[in-house]
Formats: sequence, structure tokens, C-alpha cells
Amino acid sequence: MPLARSLSVTSLSGMEDWDEEFELEDAVLFEIAWEVANKVGGIYTVIQTKARLTAEEWGENYFLVGPYVESNVRTQVELIEPTNPVLKRTIDKMNSSGCKVYFGRWLIEGSPYVVLIDVAFTAWSLDSWKRELWDLCDIGVPWFDREANDAVLFGFLTAWLLGEVTQSEEPPHIVAHFHEWLAGLGLVLCRHRQLPVATIFTTHATLLGRYLCAGSVDFYNKLSEFNLDKEAGDRQIYHRYCLERAAAHCAHVFTTVSQITAIEAEHLLKRAPDIVTPNGLNVKKFSAVHEFQNLHAQSKNRIQEFVRGHFYGHLDFNLDKCLFLFIAGRYEFSNKGADIFLEALARLNYLLRVNHSDVTVIAFFIMPARTNNFNVETLKGQAVRKQLWDTAQTVKERFGKKLYESLLVGQLPDVSKILDKDDLTIMKRAIFATQRQCQPPICTHNMLEDSGDPILNCVRRIGLFNSSADRVKIIFHPEFLSSTSPLLPMDYEEFVRGCHLGVFPSYYEPWGYTPAECTVMGIPSISTNLSGFGCFMEEHIADPSAYGIYILDRRFRGVDESCNQLTSFLFQFCKQSRRQRIIQRNRTERLSDLLDWRYLGRYYIAARHMALAKAFPDDYMYELHENATSSYYLFEGEDEERYDEDLEAEKDRLNIRQPTALPFKNKSSVVLGANGNGGFAKN
Ligand code: UDP
Ligand code: G6P
Ligand code: GLC
Repeated sequence: MPLARSLSVTSLSGMEDWDEEFELEDAVLFEIAWEVANKVGGIYTVIQTKARLTAEEWGENYFLVGPYVESNVRTQVELIEPTNPVLKRTIDKMNSSGCKVYFGRWLIEGSPYVVLIDVAFTAWSLDSWKRELWDLCDIGVPWFDREANDAVLFGFLTAWLLGEVTQSEEPPHIVAHFHEWLAGLGLVLCRHRQLPVATIFTTHATLLGRYLCAGSVDFYNKLSEFNLDKEAGDRQIYHRYCLERAAAHCAHVFTTVSQITAIEAEHLLKRAPDIVTPNGLNVKKFSAVHEFQNLHAQSKNRIQEFVRGHFYGHLDFNLDKCLFLFIAGRYEFSNKGADIFLEALARLNYLLRVNHSDVTVIAFFIMPARTNNFNVETLKGQAVRKQLWDTAQTVKERFGKKLYESLLVGQLPDVSKILDKDDLTIMKRAIFATQRQCQPPICTHNMLEDSGDPILNCVRRIGLFNSSADRVKIIFHPEFLSSTSPLLPMDYEEFVRGCHLGVFPSYYEPWGYTPAECTVMGIPSISTNLSGFGCFMEEHIADPSAYGIYILDRRFRGVDESCNQLTSFLFQFCKQSRRQRIIQRNRTERLSDLLDWRYLGRYYIAARHMALAKAFPDDYMYELHENATSSYYLFEGEDEERYDEDLEAEKDRLNIRQPTALPFKNKSSVVLGANGNGGFAKN
């Protein structure tokens, strides 16, 4: 019998210790997700940001498996011949049996190998595979559910791929890590076919959790009471729910991204996760502290340019006293807390007005919805701004020439004559072009479902229409940002850097990358104690708000109280001076080490070791650390080099607290309802 290798989680303080004890030479890691090289939401961010660390650890033995999407491949993947002989044989065999499987390098940090499967090409197998799924585990997938059909195809194809790899003469020890229900069927089939593969399933949210929270259900107080089959059936997701639950139960190791989702999974999927694997980021440190502050100033200038165009003809506020707030993510109106953000903005507007504040707040909503391109009024705004700029440049040049001529002959110019009639005419014409009959638009695009859109309807109800009297203005950009946009040509990262505060008052948020991304860029944010990120920060930092991490209480307060708390956070933020904001950004940025994969990646390592030890007990052994399943153990017996000097100095501020237990406050106890006057009404 081969010598058993041991690993205890407590020894995971550094990669070196781990390498000594745990040889991975004969092991291969497959990480399987629908969001590999395919951006939908946060799961893409998990995989993309973690790739470098995982590739460093597994080298040539690390393969990501995802769907083939031509537009993504064209921009993100270099297709190559498989270098590994087993994989080459596998892919050749599948391709000669009617599949289309591609191999390449994903052009991101770490350049990991990717195996991309064209599921549509094998759609001819869908019916027979669905029948097999039915015979196997009584899960019937309806024809009209396209996503579930893709999940079936992707599941059978990934199980086929792994099955072929295990057929090699000397099969390696395989770890297959599946993310989310869309990839989960491959895991179920691996176990059913008894493939020698160590399996991990990570859920980034539960299907039922997402659906139930989006309704008017008192989710957190009723977690243990739901009739799960009925709830899933009522929402027509019973088959998806079965796939998710089967994957969670079949996995050697089941994980999720936060403690709060672990509790949810225990109730809704009926299996408690073996370990929590919090999400990290690839933190890049600048050599000089002020560098990220400079980036803020540069990006802010670009946002200001956009605002100049958007509000042309109504630029009656001081841009230098303007604060940029934003919310971003998939468009889940109440789950992401866009509802209470809008309500709080109405209340903030009222407070700023009655206090005669000279601050103007511009709140951006970046949430993709169905649109029919940019609207004319918005594009016109940028065109008018450009025209004014060009006019100013023309006049400046003519002015400069006259000045130069006058100096050449040793005279000071006659200021009253330096602008001639032509100059005045073109300037007057340019000013006329800025006249506008309507208010600056709320939405930058033509919405396909304008009258049913929840953000627009809420704006209509609270009456924040970008009028001159309003101190709070709203811009809804229903598309993810892109540096190639003709309207706001900035990528998401640049945009975040230029803003002052990210606002993410989510009701349902297993992790929530958006506030984490703000933190590593040194931008303060508001999250909640119902989000994985918020709980994580609350757990590890004694006074998060001192670091610009405001955590809204949506757990123990009713919705109206939470909204008041949010309003008060926003109002206090508006009262800060520039100097206070600069200091706060410095403090926020100091927390970025906490969120680095270099440290958080260890939970993934632990999960893989656990799975190897369960699947191959003769070859691997794993000692469970007593705290590994109950809470994070980041700060226990921690290695000193983890912190940079600044953070070390703050160490006494950091401590560990156990996650707070249930019960949660009833979500639907108060109905939102501010009006244009921003009254704190509960109607
Ligand atoms: N995001 C983006 N472009 C945008 C807005 C958001 O790429 O214009 C990304 C953001 O960087 C984040 C992800 O979308 O990584 C959202 O992830 P999160 O975990 O916050 O929420 P999810 O959508 O997965 O529920
Ligand atoms: C950064 C820059 C400063 C600038 C400041 C603006 O700190 O380095 O030069 O004055 O940002 O801060 P504010 O919060 O007003 O955008
Ligand atoms: C899901 C969750 C989000 C999380 C992401 C990555 O999409 O909604 O909260 O950050 O997965 O784990």
C-alpha cells in the first residue's frame, strides 16, 4: 500500500509547508463551470482571478472546462493542440464521435489551459441523454428550459471527457471541481458511473434561495419551514433544483462561498457544506501609496466629462462638489437592494435640500437589462459637449494667434477687441445648441420593457427626475460598462476607481464581489450583513466602518429601519470633506490583503485535499481542523508575513467573531414608500 500522506488544515499557513507534505505530481485538476471564459456574473470573477494561483500550484496539470462560445473564444482564447497526450487522445476520440471539443490557453493571468465544449453541436443527443437522466434519477427536464437543456448537454459531455481520461493506462489521481448547478450534472454522472475521480461541488447561491428572496417571502426566518419540492415546483424550477441538490449530495466535498450561504444550503439542499471557500481577488499592489489616489482623480475626470455631456443645459451644480455613487451587478432588483437604494436616495435628496447642502450626488445604476441601444437624447448630450469643447478650442486658437501677433510687435493686446464678431457668433451658436426642453434623461438606453422596468417604475414613484432642485440625480446605464462604448468609454475597473462610494445593499448575496472589488481599489462601499462579503468583513474587522466598509443591518432591522440606516450612511458620507475622503480611501485600500487569493486560496486547497482523501483513502489522508467547517480560520496561528506593515500596525483592530446566529428580521414587515418630498413614510 502506498504511504499515506497527511495534511492538516492548520499547516496551511504557507504554500511551502503544504508542498512538502502533499505531492501532487500524479494528480490532475479539472475545474468545470459554465462561466469559464464566459462572463455572466461573479462566478466568472472567481475563476478568472483565481487562475494564476491555481496554475502556479498545478502547473501543466490544471485544466478549466467550460462551454464554447465563439465570440468569447475570438477575444479571450488562443486555440492550440493539447500538449498532454491523455487529453489529446480524449479530445480526438470525442471529436471523432460527433462532439466538438476545443483546447486552448485562456489569455488571462496564469494563462491556464481550457477545454471548451460546443454543447449545441451535440444537441442531437439531448433527447437520449434526457431519457437516461430520467431512468437514472427520475429528473425530467422540460423542453422549453433552454438553460437546463444546456446543463444536460454540458453535464453528459464533461462526464464523457472525465470518463475518457480515467481510461488511460496509468490514470492520474483526478480532482474534478464543479461550480454551480449548471455544471453539477457532470458530477452526478461521474459518481453514478463510479469513475475514480475526487469530486467537489461549490454552490455560489442556491436556486431556491435566489428565487424565494426575489419574491415577498420572509426568507431568513422561514429557512427551516419551506416545503422545498412545492416551492421549487411553484416556480417551475423543480428539475433544476433536483440537479443542484443531487450534485450537492453526490460530491465528496461540498462547499459554498460564505457562512450565510452555508446555513441556507443546509436547509434548502439538506447538506451542510464541508468547508466554506470564500472568494478572493488577484490583488495588485502599487509601489507608491498615492498611485491609486492618482488613478481615482484620473478616472473621476473622465466620469465628470460624461456628466458634463449628460446634464448639458442643466449644469447648475458644482462638479467639484459632486459625489459619484454607484450600484452594479446582475439585474435582480430587490435581491441586489436596488429598491432600498432608490428609497434611501429619495430620503437623502430631502435631507440635502432641507440642509441647504452644496453637495450634489449622482447615483449610477449599472445593471444590464433588455435594450435597443443608446437613446438619442443621451448620445446628443455627448455630441453637444464635444461641440462645445471644439468651439472653445477654435476660439482659443484664434485668440492665441492674436495674442502672439500682438506680443511680437511689443504690445499688450486690447482685451476688448481680442474676441471679434465671428468668435462671438460661433460661441453664441454653440450656447444655443445647449438649450434643452426636457430634463437630463434617467436612462441612457432605449429600454425594451420601459413600462414594466422596476428601476424606472421606482424612479417614477419617488419622483427623482434629475430636476434642477434635486440634489440627488440618477443615471441608469442598463448595460455592463466597456472601454469601447461611444457613450462612457471606460471599463468597469476604471469606472469604480473614479467613483466615491459603491452601494450594494443586497438582501440576497452569497458573496458579492462588487464591494470586494471596491475595497482592493481603495473605494469605500456599503454592503450588508446578509451578504457573504459583509459578514466576512464584520467577522474579521473590529470596526469595519473605520475602514470605509459600511455594513448595513438588513438582518435584525425591518426594511424601513434599514433604509433609514442607509440614508444616514449616505448623508454622513456627503458631509465628509475632501481630505477626510482621501484619508478614508487610504484606509480602505489597506484591507485589500484580506481579500487576496494568496490567503483565501487555501480554502480551495483544503477542499481539494479533503476530496482526494475521501476518494483515494489509500493514497491520501486528511486531518480535519476543528474549526474548518464551523468558521473561517484565517487569523488563527497566522503567519506574520501575511500583513503589510501598515496593516500590521492596525492588527489590534482586527479580531475574530463568531457569525451571529438566526433569527433574522422579517423582510416584508414594512413596505417601502418615500415620495418626492423624501418623507420617511411607511405607506
Ligand atoms: N461587473 C462587470 N461589469 C460591470 C458591472 C459589474 O464586469 O459593468 C462584474 C463585477 O466586476 C463583479 C460581477 O460583475 O465581479 C458581479 O459579481 P457579484 O458577485 O457582485 O454578483 P453576481 O452577479 O455574481 O450575483
Ligand atoms: C486623489 C488625488 C487628489 C484629489 C483627490 C480628490 O486623492 O490624489 O489630487 O484631490 O483624489 O478626491 P475626491 O474624493 O474629492 O474625489
Ligand atoms: C453568485 C452570487 C454572488 C457571488 C458570486 C461568486 O453569482 O450571487 O454573490 O459573489 O456567485 O461566488
